[in-house]
Amino acid sequence: MTELFRMNEAQPRLLDETGQGVIGAPMDRPEGLLKVTGRAPYAAEQRPDGLVHGVLLRATITHGRVTGFDEGAVKDLPGYLGLFHGPEFVALPAQGMSTAAPLQPDGAVGYHGQPIGLVVAESFEVARDAAARIGISYDEVPGAPVDPSATPLEANSGGDTETGDLEAAMSAAAASVDLTYTTPGHAAAAMEPHAAVAEWQDGRLTLHGALQMLQFNKAELADALSLDPDKVRLLAPYVGGGFGSKLGISAEHVAAAVASRALDRPVRVVMARQTVFDAVLRRSETWQRLRLAADAEGRLTAIGHDDRVSNVADQGFLEPVSAATRFLYAAPSRLMRQHVSRNHRTPAGSVRAPGEAVGMLALECAMDELAERLNLDPLDLRLRNIPETHPETGQAFTAHALAESLRDGARRFGWDARPETGTRREGEWRIGMGLASAARTNLLIPSAARVTLGPSGAVVETDMTDIGTGTYAIFAQIVAEVLGLAPDQVEVRLADSDLPPSSGSGGSFGASSAGSAVFLAARKIRETLIERIGGAPNTVRFADGTVEAGGTRHRLADLVSEPLAMEAKIEKGETAKSHFSSGFGAHFAEVAVSDVTGEIRVRRMLGVFGIGRVLNAKTARSQAVGGMIWGVGAALHEALEHDPRTGHIVGRDLANYHVPAHADIPRALEVVFLPERDDEANPMQSKGIGELGISGAGAAVLNAVHNATGLRLRDYPATPDKVIAGLDGLGRA
Ligand code: MOS
Repeated sequence: MTELFRMNEAQPRLLDETGQGVIGAPMDRPEGLLKVTGRAPYAAEQRPDGLVHGVLLRATITHGRVTGFDEGAVKDLPGYLGLFHGPEFVALPAQGMSTAAPLQPDGAVGYHGQPIGLVVAESFEVARDAAARIGISYDEVPGAPVDPSATPLEANSGGDTETGDLEAAMSAAAASVDLTYTTPGHAAAAMEPHAAVAEWQDGRLTLHGALQMLQFNKAELADALSLDPDKVRLLAPYVGGGFGSKLGISAEHVAAAVASRALDRPVRVVMARQTVFDAVLRRSETWQRLRLAADAEGRLTAIGHDDRVSNVADQGFLEPVSAATRFLYAAPSRLMRQHVSRNHRTPAGSVRAPGEAVGMLALECAMDELAERLNLDPLDLRLRNIPETHPETGQAFTAHALAESLRDGARRFGWDARPETGTRREGEWRIGMGLASAARTNLLIPSAARVTLGPSGAVVETDMTDIGTGTYAIFAQIVAEVLGLAPDQVEVRLADSDLPPSSGSGGSFGASSAGSAVFLAARKIRETLIERIGGAPNTVRFADGTVEAGGTRHRLADLVSEPLAMEAKIEKGETAKSHFSSGFGAHFAEVAVSDVTGEIRVRRMLGVFGIGRVLNAKTARSQAVGGMIWGVGAALHEALEHDPRTGHIVGRDLANYHVPAHADIPRALEVVFLPERDDEANPMQSKGIGELGISGAGAAVLNAVHNATGLRLRDYPATPDKVIAGLDGLGRA
């Protein structure tokens, strides 16, 4: 029996009454030791008996069709087992949360490096050798456009919104800015490469995969293989980061399953790092025009955000660049508009904080420029424009911590000491401070979980994943808090698609959505036990494996000599209609910019966030820190570069795709969570955190660069060559 719960109204704050001190504590990950000692098996480390190895064969043209394969040079290689190909290999990558990946005609090639088949051998080495030697013939379509600026733009008007008169407001403004920003494509660059190990038994597929959202991935894989979903079992107990790249299935899952079925052997397919870059969804590059107008008091009268993104034909996902611009600030005239270039680069999809990560880079830098024109502290400009209700929908906001984050952060960071632009120097270094708002929509995605309480403790079961985010720890804490157990008395079983289906990990919604189902199941057990002992809900006390009511103490173990299992499912309800829930916060950065090399060193960073109840202070902080570091990467380092002839990604490894390394990130990176409860979000009053840490972070860094140097850079990342050219342009001393 699953109890269905809809989030229809603000919920009582049970987790403030249970009093265990477990929820919110900075508890270590229970699986941490396994991970750091190499004993937590990731997908690629599964070694079923008889395992054979597959290497993806990939297109060496940009656009056209495969007309044939020549296996002549490889057939006699020792241990060569065969080449597999077919329409299921050339389907576009799935985006997650949808069942079908758009089907392509047999052999269709839409981008350079696209997987078109799988070569299998007894050893990985032979498979790799054969993949390099197999002949492939093509019908090539020459001249495929690979540069978004060289294709016609299509309107994506479905999400466009317009109120008031932007042009009129711009003309009448006391101050305005009309600025263009460009951001490059980004790679998710998860540490664990994409991998699958597939085996079949009695017509049922078991696949170990690097995946974020198993219930959707199960449907996608069943769809790709024309199977009943019941014939697919996915396992992903440990996942080494996803950041969107593992939201949907990709080529290795389908390929491993097809070859394993044909060979009747377990097949392992692990993408090389270069393949991950080429064949996994990237973040689109963006072109963004920001128009902001304000009256003399610094009240926004108009906000316009036009953007252009790209993707291959037939992919529905388009980077939602203006996602945060729609609700962050109030203004009577508003225009959000998107255009898309259809080209032949690697397909684009969700990468960490899709929309906000790049959209807020532009918006929050434009706000800084507007503040400068108004001769207003950028902190005050933001404080003056916080809307009462969602500017587009009129919905009430749930807990909204933007103003408090800005004020609290300014106090902690010493914002008062911000120098006049371009005035503070330490030898070759120019020093400056910047800030930016943070915002990321908080979502509740349907989730189910089962909790079983028995004599020796509790067990949590759900298909939810832990992609490095702390799910194992958090779920143990939720159940321990509700039932008065020690966290190590709670066993957490995750990421098996045969378990109750959850939101999975994505969009920063996992801990709160799947966690709420765990909470509700545990709460149901609590209520059942209270009923059994005839206690009054407000006076019972669960602690130390006991429950006390009316002066009598019962051992939980005695009450559940027969294990008690409860399953709960949560869905969004009325509160999602009446209210808009988002995490808010503020980023502060101090930088030093070298006059000599153009290098930007981040010296200090502070993020202050309102994310509702913190479920685990340590894992939440790690999420925020990781996000802020990505913000630094987006501002200063990260860029996918495409070959202008073929569109393929050059620099397809972590030596050439520059993510921030330790030396790029200051020790002084501080995270503060404001005490907050989001009563309309879910029954735990919690919100998502990971993506909030990115959203705006890079803009704080770039605004600090301006404060240090007077330089406005609008083409990211702000690499030293651009800084030097900019300083030269300013006539640097
Ligand atoms: Mo995230 S881009 O939804 O994993």
